[in-house]
Formats: sequence, C-alpha cells, structure tokens
Amino acid sequence: MSELNTIQTHINLGDRQLHRIGFGSMRITGAGVWGQPDDPAHCLELLRRLPELGVNFIDTADSYGPNVSEDLIAEALYPYKGLTIATKAGLTRQGPNIWTPVGRPEYLRQSLLMSLRRLKVEQIDLWQLHRIDPKVPRDEQFQVVAEFQKEGLIKHIGLSEVKVEDIKEAQKYFNVDTVQNQFNLINRQYEDELDFCAANQIIFIPWYPLAKNALAGKLDVLGQMAQKYQATPNQIAIAWLLKRSPVILPIPGTSKLQHFEENMQAIDIQLTDQDFALLADAYKTVTS
Ligand SMILES: NC(=O)c1ccc[n+]([C@@H]2O[C@H](COP(=O)([O-])OP(=O)(O)OC[C@H]3O[C@@H](n4cnc5c(N)ncnc54)[C@H](OP(=O)(O)O)[C@@H]3O)[C@@H](O)[C@H]2O)c1
Repeated sequence: MSELNTIQTHINLGDRQLHRIGFGSMRITGAGVWGQPDDPAHCLELLRRLPELGVNFIDTADSYGPNVSEDLIAEALYPYKGLTIATKAGLTRQGPNIWTPVGRPEYLRQSLLMSLRRLKVEQIDLWQLHRIDPKVPRDEQFQVVAEFQKEGLIKHIGLSEVKVEDIKEAQKYFNVDTVQNQFNLINRQYEDELDFCAANQIIFIPWYPLAKNALAGKLDVLGQMAQKYQATPNQIAIAWLLKRSPVILPIPGTSKLQHFEENMQAIDIQLTDQDFALLADAYKTVTS
C-alpha cells in the first residue's frame, strides 16, 4: 500500500505563520498585465474574500498594471490585519507584456518608496528583487536592498528568478527569506534552487504554479489523477507542489473568485507517494 504523509498547511516567515497557498495578484490587471482589470469591482470582492478563505499571504509587484494591483490591494484590504503583503520591484514596463529589468540603486529606492505610499504602510512585510538587472553589478543591487532593511523600510527580503549562486552571493548582504522562481509540474528547471531553499529554510514561491492554466487541458495522467481524487487538474497540480517540498508556497493567480476558491481546496488533497511519483515521472521532460 502506498504511503500517505500529511502535508503541512502553514509555513513560518519570521514570526508569521503563512497559509501554504497564497494569492498571486498579477491577474487583477488588464490584458498583458497592463492597466485596469475588466471587472475591478469583482477583483475587490475577490481580495476581500481572501482572509475568509484562510489566505494570509498576497504576492504583488509595483509593475503589475503598473501600480494597479498594489492600489486594489490597498483599497480592498488596508490595514491588512493578519495579512502579509509581499511586493517586488526591479522590472519596468513599456507597454502590455513588456518587462525590462532596471536595478540601479536609486531606481530601486524610488520603487520601494512608491510601493510604501500605494500600500499605505511604513514597512513592507516582504520585499522581493523582481529581477537582477544584468546591466548593473548584482552586488550594488544587493547592497541597496540590505540598506532598505537596515533603515526599517522592509522587514523580509526575497529574490526572484535566481540561481543558487545568486542566492549565495545575496546571503553575504542579507538573510534571504524567500525565492520566487517559475516552477510547476511541467516546468521544473529550478530543482537545484528548490533543494537549496529546502536545505536553508528559505521559502520557495513557485510562480506559474498552474502553468497559466495549461494544465487544465491535460487529460492523460493528470486527468486520471483528477478523477481519482475527485478534483480538477489545477487542484492536483497545486497538491503536487505542496507535497514536493515543505518550503513551497504556491501563489496561483486569478481574477476570478470562483477559480481561487477552487484552487484553495487543493490544501485538502493528500496525494499518496505513489501518485506523486507517477505525476512527477509523467511530466518530467515537459516544459511550458
Ligand atoms: N516573480 C515573477 O517573475 C513572476 C512572474 C509571473 C507571475 N508571478 C506571480 O505568480 C503568480 C501566479 O502566476 P500566474 O498568475 O502568472 O500564473 P498561474 O497561477 O500559473 O495561472 C494563472 C492563470 O490561470 C487561470 N486560472 C487560475 N485558476 C484557475 C482555475 N481554477 N480554473 C481556470 N483557470 C484558472 C487564470 O485565469 P483567470 O483569471 O481567468 O482565473 C490565469 O490566467 C502571479 O499572479 C504573480 O503574483 C511572479
């Protein structure tokens, strides 16, 4: 008989206990992550419902919209009782679907100060360097982020789309609390980084946890598992991530309350070791 290990429902970030499914708020914007969402009132309703669903971790970025996601979060949830709001900076926008890294220290500082204003707080709970800008020495970027923390402007620090070597270099400047890299059942290019995070008690936040809904159409092994667990393929994909490592905190993104309610139910799905391995093998060589 295959083994069934209970997964942890929460993970600690400093003195905070975070629910292991967070909310990715990139989708509460317009097409191409640009401008207002189609239905801002519904997005506000979705945000307000999150605490009732047990969600206490929300991921955003200054570049989502830009500004739109942070503004909606503040409108719906300020003063964020019991919530941890994680934002990012380091990517600039020149239009829909266009993202350009800028890591000059003065730009990062301006971005942080503007996030503080939009979110109406004096300190960001978790501030993530969205990208290391290859045009700027990475140590200059790490240096200024360390200064933000010393000045009390940010509490925890995260990195995004980084290699193990980047994390080790950043650790010379500050404690790396989180790493946010693209990772899901069909794209596991960052296994080494995930294992490094697990070994160093760093929370690993997989973005694109649903491969942007591409998994919903997979009716082979994923579809069979969905049937077996009376779940949807997206729920199985989240359950697979939760079981992959106890440091994983997926942040499925959606603009629809019904979709998020569905995604949250994945916390109750306990895959057996055997089914976990079957899924891992079935999609090993696929990349999104
Ligand atoms: N660090 C980075 O560089 C980076 C990059 C990208 C994203 N992120 C973060 O990661 C979060 C998650 O990534 P993501 O939003 O790009 O991708 P995702 O979570 O893999 O997928 C989101 C897409 O799936 C759809 N979806 C979600 N739940 C669904 C459901 N139950 N049924 C049907 N469709 C569903 C959403 O559409 P609907 O709106 O129609 O539900 C949306 O188009 C983002 O929101 C953002 O916070 C970070």
